[in-house]
Amino acid sequence: MQDRGTWTSKFGFVMATAGSAIGLGNIWKFPYVAGANGGGGFLLIYLAIILTIGLSVLLAELVIGRSTQRNPVGAFKRLKTSKFWPLIGYMGIITAFVILSFYIVVAGWTLAYIEKTLTGLLSSDKDAIGAIFGGFITSPVEPILWAGVFMAMVVYVVVGGISEGVEKCSRYLMPALFVLVIVMCFRSMTLEGAAAGWEFFTQPKWEDVTFKTVIEALGQAFFSLSLGMGTIITYGSYMDRKTDIVEAGATVVALDTLIALLAGVMVLPAVFAFGLDPAAGPGLTFVTLPHVFSQMPGGIFFGPLFFLLLAIAALTSAVSLLEVVTAYFVDELGMSRKKVTIMAGAVGFLLCIPSSLSLGVWSDYTIFGKGFLDLMDFLATNIMLPAGGMAIALFVGWVVPKAMVMDLVNGNPKYEALAKIWLVFVRFISPLGIFIVMLNGLPVIKDFMPWN
Ligand code: PHE
Repeated sequence: MQDRGTWTSKFGFVMATAGSAIGLGNIWKFPYVAGANGGGGFLLIYLAIILTIGLSVLLAELVIGRSTQRNPVGAFKRLKTSKFWPLIGYMGIITAFVILSFYIVVAGWTLAYIEKTLTGLLSSDKDAIGAIFGGFITSPVEPILWAGVFMAMVVYVVVGGISEGVEKCSRYLMPALFVLVIVMCFRSMTLEGAAAGWEFFTQPKWEDVTFKTVIEALGQAFFSLSLGMGTIITYGSYMDRKTDIVEAGATVVALDTLIALLAGVMVLPAVFAFGLDPAAGPGLTFVTLPHVFSQMPGGIFFGPLFFLLLAIAALTSAVSLLEVVTAYFVDELGMSRKKVTIMAGAVGFLLCIPSSLSLGVWSDYTIFGKGFLDLMDFLATNIMLPAGGMAIALFVGWVVPKAMVMDLVNGNPKYEALAKIWLVFVRFISPLGIFIVMLNGLPVIKDFMPWN
C-alpha cells in the first residue's frame, strides 16, 4: 500500500483544516446569506448552531477519521458494522462533486477579478462595476476558462500529497489572508455611512426571522465548517495519535467563525455606505468590494491583493473537496494519487460547465425552478451536508464502540466531563436538532418543486 501521508504537526493540521473550512463559504457566501436573511437575527442563530451542532459533529468526524486512518467510505467499512453506513461515505464523495461543480466556478471569478482589478475595473463608476460583473458571469466562455485554470491549480496541490501539497499551501497563506481581512474591515468600518451596516449586522430584528432563517443558518454552518461529507474525517485520518482533538477541533471552529464574522464586518457596512441592497445575493462581494477599493487610498494595490487572497482561501477549500475523492480511490482501490486526482479534477471541471452556463446562455433551463448552479448549491448546502452530519452524529453516538468514541479524551482526564456532554450532543441534541430543522424545512423545500 502507498504511504498515506500525515500532517507534520498540530499546527499543520490546524492550518490545513482551517484552510478547508475557511473559503468562499465565509467570505463570499456568509455576508450575502446573512444579508438576505435579516442580518443580526441570522447571525445569532448561526452562532448558536456552530457552538452546538457544528462543534459536536466536527469532533465526531475527527474521532472517526483519526481512529480509522481512512477515507470516509473506508472509515465506515473498517468499523465493520452494517452495509448501510459506508453509504454515508459514498454520499460524501458524490457531495464533493456536487460542491466542486459550483465552487470552482465562483473560485474562477476570483482569479478573473485579480486581473480585472489590475486592469481598470477600479476606475469605473458604481453602475459600471455592477454591469461588468453581470456581463462577465453570463459570458459563455471566459468564466469557464478561469474555472479550468483554478481546477488545474487544485489538482496540482492535491497531487503534491498531504504534507508537501495540502499542508504547505495552507501554512503560509492562511495567516496572510487573516491579516488582509482585518485591514479591509478597518477600511469598510470607517467609510461614511457604514454605521447602518454595522447595526444591520449586529442588531437582531426578530420580526424578520422565520423558519427559513434557521434552515439557511444550519446549511451555512455545515458548508462553512466543511461538515457532513467526510472532509473532516479525511483530514482527521492524517492526524497523529498525540494530537489533542478537542483543542485542535475547537481552534478550527473558532478561526472559521472569526473569519465569517470579519467578512460580515468587511462587506455589510460597505454595502450600506454605498447604498446597495444587502439582499442582492451572490454578486454582493464582487460588486461591493470593488467599490470599496475604488474609494480607498491604495485600493489599486489592496484590490488585486484581496482577490488573490480570496482565490487562496477558495483553493485550500477546493483542495479538501478533491482530497476526499482522491483519498477514497487511493485507499480503497490502491490507485495512484496522481492518476486519480487528474481524473477526478477533469470530472469536476466538466461538471462546472453547466453551472457556469446556467447563469448566462442556459438561464432559461431550470430544474425545480432553479438554474443548475443554484440547484447544486441548494442540494449540497441545505440537504446533503445536514443529512450527512445527522448520520455521522448518530453513528458516533450509537454505533461506534465506546472505547473508540473515547479517543476524544485521548488519555487526558480534563476532557472526561466534556466527553460526556459531547456524547449527549451526538446522541440526541444534534441529530434531533438537524432532523427538526429539516422536517420543518419541507414546506420551504417544497417551494422549489415544479408543481408549486
Ligand atoms: N468550507 C468551505 C468554505 O467555506 C467549503 C467546503 C464545504 C469545503 C464542504 C469542503 C467541504 O468555503
